Order: sequence, then structure tokens, then C-alpha cells
Amino acid sequence: MTVLPSAEPFVPPPYPYERVDRFKPLGDRFDGGLIDLSIGTPSDPPPPAVIEALASSGAERGYPPSIGSLPLREAAQRWIDRRFGVDVAPSQIAAAIGTKEFVGTLPQWMRLRAPDRDTVLYPEISYPTYEMGAILAGCRAVPVPMSPTGGLKLDAIDPADADRALLMWVNSPGNPSGILDDLEAAAGWGRAHAVPVFSDECYVEFTWDGPGRTILEHGSSGVVAVHSLSKRSNLAGTRLGFYAGDADLVAYLSEVRKHVGMMVPGPVQAAGVVALDDDAHVAVQRDRYRHRLELLADVLSRWSGVDIPLPGGGFYLWFHVGDAWEFTERLAREAGVLVSPGDFYGSAGSEFVRVAVVQPDERIAEIARRLGVGD
Ligand SMILES: Cc1ncc(COP(=O)(O)O)c(C=O)c1O
Repeated sequence: MTVLPSAEPFVPPPYPYERVDRFKPLGDRFDGGLIDLSIGTPSDPPPPAVIEALASSGAERGYPPSIGSLPLREAAQRWIDRRFGVDVAPSQIAAAIGTKEFVGTLPQWMRLRAPDRDTVLYPEISYPTYEMGAILAGCRAVPVPMSPTGGLKLDAIDPADADRALLMWVNSPGNPSGILDDLEAAAGWGRAHAVPVFSDECYVEFTWDGPGRTILEHGSSGVVAVHSLSKRSNLAGTRLGFYAGDADLVAYLSEVRKHVGMMVPGPVQAAGVVALDDDAHVAVQRDRYRHRLELLADVLSRWSGVDIPLPGGGFYLWFHVGDAWEFTERLAREAGVLVSPGDFYGSAGSEFVRVAVVQPDERIAEIARRLGVGD
């Protein structure tokens, strides 16, 4: 559990990915330089029609609606319906400037709404911003234990923490582990304890084991699904996401966020409509990631002798190596390849590494050559 001592001035900790910066110069020793598989940043292009919409919307002059334009929210509604067979009204959908800011600021707004509560529950191995958002709001960040193969161990949540919880995060497919969580169980736990559940589903288009799932399949009361176009449509650079679900929560959050000036730029909102209405580019991207996961798992397991499982979802390999910092340094030295040591995602992940398959096939073939495991 992390508690921010209120009497101490806050000093931001090092940003996780900057902790591996010292390995980057090791890439200079190789023709072609560093191959960065640490951050999950897309390198493939978004569809041309999306770029065209960015350039031609005419939406750059006036202020854009903070909640998101009606066409954008209707496009999100259509996508949720196509993808999951769930109907959510546009009034229950609102825009985010990418979802990281939403995750990082949510606890402050939730605390203002429920001043008698002060705790954020989040998966013990997870995207670091869940914990950081709690810290930035002066809240208690309490990790929920996870089972090795599945998701949150809801039974392990201390009733005293549940009583103090402002919200719980669930993430499926999960970053970094790729696990698929039981979203019905998470929604049920939240309702039973009167704790809003926020379900981060930004990798849902890359679900490998079975169909993609949203928590909204189990009703919208007390739950909010959080989605991003960063991964789905290779639009991390334009910053666009949305959240959808419980009518009161979405109304409250979108009102507060309007006061803060959280606004997705107009041209980005217009481009988002085009991206959300198109599934063909997502199918292409899905094939790319699937192929790269298989390729890279094969290359790295042949080199290291480590068994590397394919994830249930997402585009990360997550595997046990023992000393993760030693493994990370060795890979950087021997191949100029940068990966993420698992402690970035919580101490429970410290013996694992995460490898983001965000580089094109020819760069993966280059890794195989450098490691001497090419065909
Ligand atoms: C689990 C998870 N949630 C949210 C995000 C934020 O994505 P964005 O801010 O680009 O929407 C990421 C990015 O890597 C992530 O892995």
C-alpha cells in the first residue's frame, strides 16, 4: 500500500521508462541502432482516411466540446454495439484526451464526490498510472492480489479497504500480463460493496483467447468502461479515448472535467469518428500483432531457453526470467534491444520482463540475427 504523507512535499518519482534510459546507448553499437520494445507505443500507420479527416475537419477554430461531439459519441456507441452487442446511449459516453490523463486524474474527482472515502484499489501487477493517480490525489493506493493465471482475487480484498474504496480498477486484457479478467465478477463485487468499478479495456481489440469483452455486458450500473484509440487505431500521438457506462458517474465526471478544460482537439474528434466507424484497419493490425507475438516469443525463447507463453490478449510478452534487470541489461548488450523489467508494474512482477511487440517484422528479424538465432 502506498500512502502519501500529507505533511511531506511531493517529489515525483522517476518515470518508470526513464529508469532503462541508461541501457539505450548500448544500441549504438549495432547497425540499425537500438530496437526499443519497452514502451507500448504503436509504430504502424493509422488509416489514410483518418489522417485526411484530421486535416480537413475545419474543427480547429472554435473550442471543442469537452464531453466530445455528438458524432464522436455516436460513433463510440456504434462501435460498442458492433463489437459487444451492447447499447449505451451517447449521454453515457464522454471523451478523454487519451486515457492516461483519465486514469491519472480520476481519483481526485472521485474523492471530491465521496470525501469520506480515500482508497483506490488496483491490480497488483498493472499499468503504473492506477497507483500514481491515487498518489497524486493524496489517496491510499491499495493493490489487489492476482492469481497467477487469472485476474483479481476479489476475496482477498480487506473489508476495511473495501469500506474506504473510492473506486476499483480492473484491466482486461491486462497490461503487462495479457490476462483476461472476470469482468462480471468485478462488476458484481463493486455493486455488492457500493464501489464504482472502472474497467480499462484499451487492449480489447487484441483479445486472443475468445471474443473481446466489456464490463458493460453486465449492465452499466456502477461501472465505467474506459477505451482508447491509441492502440486500436495507432493514434497514440493524437490523444483520444472515451469512457462509457453508469449515467451518474459519466455525468459527474464529464461536468468536472469540463471545468478543468479537458478537451480533445476538434480535428482529433473528427478523425475519431472515421477511426471508430472502420473495423478493417483493426483486423490488419490484429494480424500484425499476432504474428509478431509468435515471432518474438520464438526468437527470445530460443536465445534465452526461457519458456515464453503467448498472452490471452494485448501485445506484450510477459515472462519469468528471475533477475529481470540482469536479463534486460544482457539483452541490451547482446542485441541492442530494450525491454521493461517487471517491477515497473509492481513489486509482484519483479521477476518478469515485458516485451512490447511494437516493431515491424524486419526489426524482429534483425533481433534474431543479432542474437544468432536467425534461420
Ligand atoms: C492499461 C493501459 N491503460 C491506459 C493506457 C493509456 O493509453 P492512452 O493514454 O494512449 O489512451 C495504456 C497505455 O499504454 C495502458 O497500457
